[in-house]
Amino acid sequence: MDLVTQHLVQPDDLNYHNNLFGGKMLSWIDEGMAMFAMMKINYTNIVTVSMDNVVFRSPARAGDIIQIYGKIIKTGKSSVTVKTLAISNNPQTGKLAEVIESEISYVCLDDKGKPYFHFRNFKIQSEKP
Ligand SMILES: CC(C)(COP(=O)(O)OP(=O)(O)OC[C@H]1O[C@@H](n2cnc3c(N)ncnc32)[C@H](O)[C@@H]1OP(=O)(O)O)[C@@H](O)C(=O)NCCC(=O)NCCS
Repeated sequence: MDLVTQHLVQPDDLNYHNNLFGGKMLSWIDEGMAMFAMMKINYTNIVTVSMDNVVFRSPARAGDIIQIYGKIIKTGKSSVTVKTLAISNNPQTGKLAEVIESEISYVCLDDKGKPYFHFRNFKIQSEKP
């Protein structure tokens, strides 16, 4: 998987249990993976259609670095699906933990906002296993 983006967990990112708020992390993941998908498919007019199999595995705390990894797992006619894994990295202890995993699908749109069959003419070149 490629390292897609990183975020430092700040006090404003916490919920009332002092863990990283899940909705905050989902927005980091959605934004980071959308940019990753745009670059990989060379097309920018995309929208998120689904976030599936979202599993929260462990909490993250203030001071952790959230590292978001991803890879493309599927393309259809207009859609591309990515798998993503976020890891918390405590820079003081070096402890790593899986925080969240998910599969996200994005749909390419045309200039009228309708699904555009981008993958009729575009093949992703070199994907790592
Ligand atoms: C995304 C959207 C354009 C799809 O429109 P639609 O009329 O449902 O389109 P279709 O049924 O023809 O599906 C288009 C593609 O999306 C895929 N798709 C639709 N629903 C899906 C779902 N729940 N999960 C995964 N893929 C899905 C279809 O399989 C199809 O893929 P393909 O072209 O590769 O075969 C429309 O649902 C939409 O605008 N949703 C809102 C998007 C949004 O605002 N996102 C949040 C902000 S980015």
